[in-house]
Amino acid sequence: SVPTIPYPKNDPELSFKEGLPQTVKLKEQLANTTVVDIPAVIGGVKYFSEDIIEVRPPHDQNRVIARIHRPNKEMIEKGIAACADASKEWANTSFADKAAIMNRAAEIIDKKKRIEIAAATMLGQSKTIDQADPDSGNELIDFLRFNAYNAQRVYADQPLTVPTALNRIDWRPLEGFVYAISPFNFTAIGANLTTAPAMMGNTVLWKPAEKASLANYIFYQALEEAGLPPGVINFMPGKASEVSAAALGSKDLAGIHFTGSSEVFQGLWKGVAENLSRFKSIPRIVGETGGKDFVLAHASADADVVAISLVRGAFEYQGQKCSAASRAYVSESLWPAVKEKMQAMLATLKVGDVADLSTFMGAVISKESHEKLTARIQSAKDDRECKIVYGGKTWKEPGFFVEPTVIEVSNPKHNLMEEELFGPVLTVYVFKDEAWDDVLQLVDSTSPYSLTGSIFCTDRYKLVQAEKALVNSAGNLYINDKPTGAMIGQQPFGGTRASGTNDKAGYWLNLMRWVSPRTVKESY
Ligand code: NAD
Ligand code: ALA
Repeated sequence: SVPTIPYPKNDPELSFKEGLPQTVKLKEQLANTTVVDIPAVIGGVKYFSEDIIEVRPPHDQNRVIARIHRPNKEMIEKGIAACADASKEWANTSFADKAAIMNRAAEIIDKKKRIEIAAATMLGQSKTIDQADPDSGNELIDFLRFNAYNAQRVYADQPLTVPTALNRIDWRPLEGFVYAISPFNFTAIGANLTTAPAMMGNTVLWKPAEKASLANYIFYQALEEAGLPPGVINFMPGKASEVSAAALGSKDLAGIHFTGSSEVFQGLWKGVAENLSRFKSIPRIVGETGGKDFVLAHASADADVVAISLVRGAFEYQGQKCSAASRAYVSESLWPAVKEKMQAMLATLKVGDVADLSTFMGAVISKESHEKLTARIQSAKDDRECKIVYGGKTWKEPGFFVEPTVIEVSNPKHNLMEEELFGPVLTVYVFKDEAWDDVLQLVDSTSPYSLTGSIFCTDRYKLVQAEKALVNSAGNLYINDKPTGAMIGQQPFGGTRASGTNDKAGYWLNLMRWVSPRTVKESY
């Protein structure tokens, strides 16, 4: 059948220049000292427990913004039962009605909750406004609209019908519930992990990340207001190990939709494997995980473009994007100019409280992350193979701050070129201009991840050669651009190797994972 939803446009950027009404409202919202109680929501009913976790902004440990009421085991079981209770009616809800709910939720975020959710993302996850609204506003809205559009692309696909038989595919949802587990670093990812399976008729148990719980709860309320029936998505801000034990212990687990670290994802696979004989259906497992994303700069590249791409790619949102540039290979003749330009740019950028809208970088997410980054920077200072080219300072008051740090290494296989640090630390290896073939080999083989990567090069022959040599080194490859900031509908996102199952978030390929097609042949 002919698609009825037109191809959506990306939600336009909202300016937060001084004096604009939305900027005034944002500042008021950031100054609001209300502490939000976050319940579990099961079958449309809110559950408040005594097991409370306080949420504090990573950049201001003296302030509390929310209290998460962690559900106990009984509540988690109720959440799983609520998925089953809601599943038949939701599976039979028409595509048009489901799409209308998703589009309404997008409108509610855009028109009513945009500032509230941006402020929650800034405070809970320490994002500057330049990073928060493109996440909890633009990208979240795009996920909802593009998933609704892309669902009809899936439903429209039908097999060949011949004169003797009418063949068709019923695009059924999975039989059972989908367990969605979302990370702290993008509010929008929680929205996608839940609504993509729901758009395809599945019911969902959602475990958000602690630091994103406030923004995710605001999104959840928008879904309720948009008319999502009770029980279709059950909000479960509990202890990860407890929610997972119940979800993986249920025979009705039909799918896992995960974004987070490779380590946790591997644990989920193992948990599924251990329970395999108990499940009614073999669960679909979809995960987008870690990265150690490369930037490769050929001698022919423009030094200004490389420098700004490294600064933005490595340090926006404190380097806490799975797509962040974290290992760079720069040719020897280009490096002095790139280094100087980066140093000059970084010296002008402010690190601090995100409520000051001129801040470039807030704090890193947690004490644990801060300790890990501090330790890695300290060991680089003590290591003869490393030279700190910029930054290197960290401090803990009033939050978890790390200066943007650039480390040059003489050993291209140094641990700093391999390990995902998930913070504002960029490691650079400078290669001889004539060693292009060798460096391609290094880029491909140094890290276990394969998420994003950038090649900067204006020599067409070398560029084509690199594209071929790096065919498996990134799920999202950028040419003459930074490796972050994929747009829904423009650059479907996901990686391979240790970076995940590459099912391309925000695209129809991802939606295909949430259907279990039944083929019907009707003979005449
Ligand atoms: P994380 O793996 O620590 O946590 C992710 C989620 O898993 C959270 O909700 C957490 O509570 C939960 N979790 C933790 N232990 C668990 C367990 N034993 N069982 C089940 N759930 C558990 O990741 P994070 O710190 O929130 O996010 C950062 C990581 O996410 C980085 O590795 C980053 O690269 C990755 N990431 C990847 C993408 C992508 O698209 N590839 C996007 C964003 C983030
Ligand atoms: N989708 C996010 C980006 O591309 C992770 O930066």
